[in-house]
Amino acid sequence: MASHAKGPVWSDTAKVPTYSPLTADVTADVCIVGAGIAGLTTAYLLTQVGKSVVVLEDGGIGSGQTGATTAHLVNALDDRFFDLERLHGGRGSRLAAESHTAAIDRVESIVARERIACDFTRLDGYLFCAPEHDEAFLDRELEAVHRAGLHNVAKVGRAPIDFDTGPCLRFPNQGQFHPLKYLAGLAEAIERAGGRIFTGTHAKQIQGGARACVGTPGGTVRAGSVVVATNTPVNDLVVVHTKQAPYMTYVIGAPVPRHSVTTALYWDTGDPYHYIRLVTSIDAEHDLLIVGGEDHKSGQADDIPERHPRLERWARERFPMMGEVTHKWGGQVMEPVDGLAFIGHNPLDSDNVYTVTGDSGNGMTHGTIAGMLLTDQILGRHNPWESLYDPGRVTLRASGAFAKENVNVAAQYADWVTKGDVDSVDDIPKDSGAVIRRGASKLAVYRDATGGLHERSAVCPHLGCIVAWNPAEKTWDCPCHGSRFDKFGEVTNGPANVGLVRS
Ligand code: FES
Repeated sequence: MASHAKGPVWSDTAKVPTYSPLTADVTADVCIVGAGIAGLTTAYLLTQVGKSVVVLEDGGIGSGQTGATTAHLVNALDDRFFDLERLHGGRGSRLAAESHTAAIDRVESIVARERIACDFTRLDGYLFCAPEHDEAFLDRELEAVHRAGLHNVAKVGRAPIDFDTGPCLRFPNQGQFHPLKYLAGLAEAIERAGGRIFTGTHAKQIQGGARACVGTPGGTVRAGSVVVATNTPVNDLVVVHTKQAPYMTYVIGAPVPRHSVTTALYWDTGDPYHYIRLVTSIDAEHDLLIVGGEDHKSGQADDIPERHPRLERWARERFPMMGEVTHKWGGQVMEPVDGLAFIGHNPLDSDNVYTVTGDSGNGMTHGTIAGMLLTDQILGRHNPWESLYDPGRVTLRASGAFAKENVNVAAQYADWVTKGDVDSVDDIPKDSGAVIRRGASKLAVYRDATGGLHERSAVCPHLGCIVAWNPAEKTWDCPCHGSRFDKFGEVTNGPANVGLVRS
């Protein structure tokens, strides 16, 4: 692994527009919190039907998980269709396939209509067996895929790459794009249609009802409806968070000779699974091969420094033409217990507050579905996907996964009484962090590159779990519901909506 490898490849080539923070009170039909794919797609579609929108983002455009995606646009979902059928019934499985297919089509139509230069490409996707699975597994999935209405999916002898994948399923007409270029195009289209976007603007309070508003340090947005599209909701303390679990996933990028790998999407059936795509023509002689996987429950792995190297070994065995790794990064995925995102009315909240979360490994299509579904709900239009994605749903057949994840969360509170990672701050190397115990308290301590110490409480401000240091990402990750904090303790990912408390 190259120690000088860069972060997400998208930042190399995207010019993302910047906006001013909110500095006055404003009003709008709809206030959207979050400028990732879900928030901006919702804002774009609402402006297209004449709604006035205000978008608030505490970072920049795409600075959350959309900037860390590998941007597979697929109806080959990362949960098996035979599982979706068991959990949601035949109709649910068909609607899932239909909605993700429609999302790819919608991205394509927006790209064409707004002339967004984001490298959108239609291409095939190939699902091949991990060592623990055999052809019968693929046959079972193929039958479920066909029952879900994806009749153009077929079993083929192998994927069109050098290493022998064995039999696999070919999903035609998938998509890929450059996610930040797409978001930049969406943001510009929103502005052209009269929408207003404010970055560097943290939503401190979110209130629904007749006097719906979003409070920020610089002003208040009063709106008819509020959409919280912050990857995981910062306005819901408990309900949705018991039905999904945060997982970290890791990615590497390395050059390969142009055309040495067929341009397509590839996934194996493992759990966690590997996912592969290309960024073509990074220079005259190379494409960039992107390989992801090695997922683990956030804040709950003690071998994080091994994750990128293991991914590289897996990739190099299969793609020996790979050059030196030039990019490595990680992202967080919210895994719903029943495989599908939560999109719609925020449970136990006013009717005019909406949320989107639980993107699983299909964030680009789930985010686009959110734009389509929430627009219909805000306009009072019927949408056949509404009950499938209802955040308040209880999927009885997922009760086993529900119980398992919540027992896991409960177990994390034992960290209150355990020792720290190290006995003394003297044991923390430069540019690294560790949790230490000081009396009855636990502290998250980061030692910067010059040796200076930065101490915060290690207690997550969401519901009180103890955060863990992630040495690959240099972040503090909460093992319970996915809150993440930068090395200095500032919040970067909900559900926490404030940073770690200064000690
Ligand atoms: Fe819920 Fe930290 S994210 S306790």
